[in-house]
Amino acid sequence: MFDGDTFRATGHALIDLLADYLDKNLQGKGDVLDWQAPQEAIRHWQQPMPYQPTLTPAGLIAALQDEVLAGTLHIHHPRNMGHQVAPPLPVAALCDLVAALTNQAMAVYETGPSATMIERQVIRWLGELVGWQDTEGVLTSGGAQANLTALLAARQVQARKTDPDWDAWHQGLGRGKPLCILVSEHAHYSVSRAAGIMGLGTEAVIKVATDAAGRMQMSALEAAWQQATEQGITVFAVAANAGCTPTGSIDPLQEIGRFCRERNIWFHVDGAHGASALLSAHHRPALDGIALADSVVWDGHKLLYMPATVSAVLFREPQHSYAAFAQQASYLFQGDSHAEEAYNTSYRTLECTKRMMGLKLWAAFSLYGAERLGQLVDTVFASARAFADKLRTQPDFELLMSPETNILCFRHLAPGLSPSTLNAHQAALRLHLVRSGQFHLTQVELHGTIWLRTSIMNPMTGPSDLDALIAALRDAASRHQH
Ligand SMILES: Cc1ncc(COP(=O)(O)O)c(C=O)c1O
Repeated sequence: MFDGDTFRATGHALIDLLADYLDKNLQGKGDVLDWQAPQEAIRHWQQPMPYQPTLTPAGLIAALQDEVLAGTLHIHHPRNMGHQVAPPLPVAALCDLVAALTNQAMAVYETGPSATMIERQVIRWLGELVGWQDTEGVLTSGGAQANLTALLAARQVQARKTDPDWDAWHQGLGRGKPLCILVSEHAHYSVSRAAGIMGLGTEAVIKVATDAAGRMQMSALEAAWQQATEQGITVFAVAANAGCTPTGSIDPLQEIGRFCRERNIWFHVDGAHGASALLSAHHRPALDGIALADSVVWDGHKLLYMPATVSAVLFREPQHSYAAFAQQASYLFQGDSHAEEAYNTSYRTLECTKRMMGLKLWAAFSLYGAERLGQLVDTVFASARAFADKLRTQPDFELLMSPETNILCFRHLAPGLSPSTLNAHQAALRLHLVRSGQFHLTQVELHGTIWLRTSIMNPMTGPSDLDALIAALRDAASRHQH
């Protein structure tokens, strides 16, 4: 079971298999997805518990090929443009193998010395891109957990500001005034979940209207704050989007940052999707004001081209990196952030055992440099703009808005269909394309209208793929109408 030679031989065979799989997908050979209904797919996975071996190592490689890889959504395929999930850099996947084999628990420094140092290094690099010095924070398993971590810290710090004796972590919520968070109407659902988990109730997340470009309206933010204040509710945080999930829109960070500073409110930026625009000289200005944030969330497995999962929670004030889970630690390390104890990651994170997540980011930055990684962002943002330009000239398509990032919402217009039938039409087109295996795309409902949504994550997605998408949608529409 632990034999190194078997590992070597199986590993070489596995790398050969995966390299072929990668090449095939990058070249767009075959379908994006071999769709099988789950009720059908589950029949295969009803084998009895193998009390004795059922596979040899060679049989495992064959099963991976025939049963596992065959049933994957082919993430590197240029016609995969559904979700905001990166086609990962292959070298980053290799680093994940290192993380798996070495299995550094990371809760305390001695259970992952190099893993701890690499994570701190990566956090400082990301902080530098935000515009901060000596940033502290933590890598978490996903943006949802990262948002929870940032908002827990926000609540702790802000509750104390309303009452110096209020320690929300230890005493709970009963002691102080009610708290709420203001967010864009397009905020990711993980913000509401965080409020639920924190015991604030999801109703404590107050949605602020956006403009036609999907950006939070300052007048609506001001009005929401005014209303909460008049009702005796303390707005402890404003969570802005740097790349919201449905449309990729970036909230006016500079203005929201100033708004928060003036009122002493915690400013959180959910940059899970769009913070990677900081790597691009061209798109960086769209994030002006991000450095005013108290906390920033940034997903590696989106536009940093990492395998899932790796998300960063970054804090402008290093001390705040302890505020979410270990309030006493913040006193412990006051004035001595280099105390040996401060290198124990567990003070900063929900997770106890934690994967070595920083290695793949460290390797990618070191091998390619931030500028080349930024070019990947430039490429996919340019593809989304080119696709928007194309759609604008097609009379049978409607564009929701010009894309600010790489997410684009549009719909197919079929003459004579009522608004509700038009909604069903988009859903039917999407299902047809996904189940036929030609494309993977998603849909989103905004104010009662269903839009098709592409998230162009793959730098290999080119104009011919986007032309083919338009053609496939028209073809599906003609079948659907008959
Ligand atoms: C803006 C935003 N925030 C948070 C998340 C949650 O991130 P994760 O899927 O890494 O948990 C997403 C996911 O798509 C997102 O788009």
